[in-house]
Amino acid sequence: VFLDQLASQSARLREQFKIDLRVRGILGSKRMVLAETGIAVEHWRREYEQRGVPANLDRFIEHVHVDYLPHSVVIDCTASADIAGRYAAWLGAGMHVVTPNKKANSADLVYYRALHEARRAGGAHYLYEATVGAGLPVVHTLRDLRETGDEITSVEGIFSGTLAYLFNIYDGRTAFSDIVRDARQRGYTEPDPRDDLSGMDVARKLIILGREMGLELELADVKVESLVPTGLETGSIEDFMARLPRHDAAMRERLDAARARGKVLRYVGRLTCDDTSRTRSAGARAPSGVATVGLVELDTRHPFANIALTDNVVRFATRRYCDNPLIVQGPGAGPEVTAGGVFADLLRLAAYLGARL
Ligand SMILES: NC(=O)c1ccc[n+]([C@@H]2O[C@H](COP(=O)([O-])OP(=O)(O)OC[C@H]3O[C@@H](n4cnc5c(N)ncnc54)[C@H](OP(=O)(O)O)[C@@H]3O)[C@@H](O)[C@H]2O)c1
Repeated sequence: VFLDQLASQSARLREQFKIDLRVRGILGSKRMVLAETGIAVEHWRREYEQRGVPANLDRFIEHVHVDYLPHSVVIDCTASADIAGRYAAWLGAGMHVVTPNKKANSADLVYYRALHEARRAGGAHYLYEATVGAGLPVVHTLRDLRETGDEITSVEGIFSGTLAYLFNIYDGRTAFSDIVRDARQRGYTEPDPRDDLSGMDVARKLIILGREMGLELELADVKVESLVPTGLETGSIEDFMARLPRHDAAMRERLDAARARGKVLRYVGRLTCDDTSRTRSAGARAPSGVATVGLVELDTRHPFANIALTDNVVRFATRRYCDNPLIVQGPGAGPEVTAGGVFADLLRLAAYLGARL
């Protein structure tokens, strides 16, 4: 989808803004296509299918990173930890990286720091807006707040379109497991719904935001309430789906308890920073924070209780935005909006490198 969006805009970018973007290689998990002067991006599918050779990441990078072109950028649209593990080397060598892949920024802190040191040493840019909220301006909003000296006290929200959908729909009339099954059939969940229900995807997003706030958090520091019932963590998807109904009564009890208090259930990620003044000063000891992910009861009028079916919503509470918090809300998943977020990062990169957009 990203390449299709690029194809639709490349002539305009060239003519209007003199940005000459060349796709010099496309790599998938099995094949790749390389071209010296650039692939005709409007025909990328045909080129990839007809002229593809077996994939070789080292060869690909060697081809893309050449001295005679002013800038090279790798756009990683995989979810691969192996590819994310290469960013530090690429950035250190001066290649820019744009990505919606959460694996690098939520890897251990040692790698995270190495990545940012390599970026500085290589004079390269690393952009990852689409890792949280897809095309929604979440990472940038946070960075702008922090860099302009605001003090962030908390960031919380619904960071999973899938879990938003499940709890927007779940009203007790249909069993929770039936809602999961239906969502899976509609393609709203990952092929294995446990990947959504475990909360780990949300935890990774919180880590990314927490680190953006200057918190030194590891994935293990996030208190995650998994919605995968104990005993169903392993085994086949079919087995999981078959056994999930046994846990419907427990979920129903939670819903009834919430309702008895006039509340609704939502799956929320929360980051709180306990010493906001320190998020501002570079060089100071890192502030500490608490990250939690799980099912919470919310007032029926709460902003998180009133979002469209699969929306994401993120609420920033800061010194400036205290009485009335800053809220970013909208579709936070899907190929079009995610590719749009990646494309916007690419254009931001072009602007950093001197393009006049
Ligand atoms: N889709 C969304 O709504 C959304 C939203 C926000 C962020 N993201 C993030 O965006 C990324 C892509 O998501 P997606 O939904 O497009 O995933 P996807 O449909 O699974 O596509 C992944 C792509 O990566 C390629 N790939 C996987 N492993 C590779 C490897 N080792 N080397 C080279 N290519 C490899 C695959 O190539 P083959 O086809 O050749 O196997 C495929 O084209 C993920 O990190 C995801 O978390 C997605």
